[in-house]
Amino acid sequence: MDRPCQRRQGRDLDRARHGAEVQRHSQDRRFPARAGNLHAADRRQRRAAGDRAGDPRALTVAGLIWRLGALAAGAAALVGAAAPQAWRWDLPGGIAPPALPADNPMTAAKVELGRRLFYDADLSANGTMACATCHEQKHAFADGNRTHPGVTDEPGRRNVPGLANAAWLSPLTYADPAAKTLEQQAFTPVFGTHPVEMGMAGREGEIAARLGQDDCYRAQFRRAFPDSGGRIEFAAVAKALAAFERTLVSYGSAYDRGVMTAAARAGQQDFSRDCAACHAGARFTDLGFHRLGPADPAGGDQGAFENTGAEADRGKFRTPSLRNVALTGPWWHDGSAPSLRGAIARHGLALPDSEVERLLAFLNALSDAEFAGRKSLALPDRACGRRL
Ligand code: HEC
Ligand code: HEC
Repeated sequence: MDRPCQRRQGRDLDRARHGAEVQRHSQDRRFPARAGNLHAADRRQRRAAGDRAGDPRALTVAGLIWRLGALAAGAAALVGAAAPQAWRWDLPGGIAPPALPADNPMTAAKVELGRRLFYDADLSANGTMACATCHEQKHAFADGNRTHPGVTDEPGRRNVPGLANAAWLSPLTYADPAAKTLEQQAFTPVFGTHPVEMGMAGREGEIAARLGQDDCYRAQFRRAFPDSGGRIEFAAVAKALAAFERTLVSYGSAYDRGVMTAAARAGQQDFSRDCAACHAGARFTDLGFHRLGPADPAGGDQGAFENTGAEADRGKFRTPSLRNVALTGPWWHDGSAPSLRGAIARHGLALPDSEVERLLAFLNALSDAEFAGRKSLALPDRACGRRL
């Protein structure tokens, strides 16, 4: 696991080189960040991850059922929706499509725009930081760091969570019961000041101005938002980002495909007994807030209390999803658990070592290598038929 930020010595304005592949500021839009060797190494790694995923689904009965389920679900979605551009959710059987805000239906044009925006550092004050700088695909859209400093070098407060199946998560983030939708959440990294991440507070108009300089963006906004005539404003940016984020669909792990090892299957039994009360359902989260240790009013992070002001919420954090959890470390809301073993121990459940081993096997079976390398979710290399 690389730790780009921790390796960084002092101030280094060329921050984009330390994060994921992102599209740089307007002036040098033609040069994707991290060109060169690192870039190539990443690509190789990603290819390898993709190859490993292969297509085992085609080879097993479980895989076949998975495929058929996905087709059936897709067909149901098409029949159920009246809109001309009904979105085709490619989901395994048993997974219902996510709820969508009425004013932000899924369209291919919006998803394509959102994908480009997700990787575009023009959404940050100094043009070096995109969503993808912190949410890196190879880490299932987490980043491998304890926390990630923003554009002003203010240290992050919380660990970057993965974004697998974010479409089904509400509320969002570790500690804000009011963060209900992805549309709403997108404002926080861009304009938030606690901590400063992308640093655009008070400069909303500037994003529209930057994007509006690019004729391809203008065309993409027109295609994505025909009702507003393609008006470029942050509300539309947030809608497009949310539409793209809803395509971060990950149900292809060994667990999903029914190809777990015996140890992982045994771990699943332990998990159902000791963990599934909170890590419940298809995303392994009840989306509820829990305090796993004693409340510490002197602590630096008071969790949900910071947003609700209710004493009962002190030190409570939302149960994280455990999908791809082996790819999203370090763990815990502050990244303070350097291993999955440590993250389990942190719950204070006093489990025998043999059970912890089985649980680890199960958690590792929740990784979806195909998702972490899926091309349609990566930095796009073309837009409007041209190379970016
Ligand atoms: C500087 C690093 C950084 C950047 C840049 C960043 N994020 Fe995040 N993101 C985080 C952290 C840290 C959290 C957890 C915050 C919390 O829980 O308080 C988070 C949480 C999220 C969540 C909630 C996930 C969940 O499980 O509830 C979503 C969705 C998200 N970010 C999307 C985005 C989008 C979209 C962008 C770009 C507009 C973006 N992020 C840019 C660090 C970052
Ligand atoms: C009472 C509810 C509850 C139970 C039971 C529970 N967890 Fe958790 N789990 C949480 C919460 C809440 C967090 C987030 C804690 C934080 O970051 O402060 C968490 C965090 C985690 C993490 C770290 C995830 C990350 O992305 O950082 C792992 C791994 C985990 N739990 C595994 C387990 C396992 C395995 C069990 C059963 C042995 C279990 N949990 C039982 C509520 C629970």
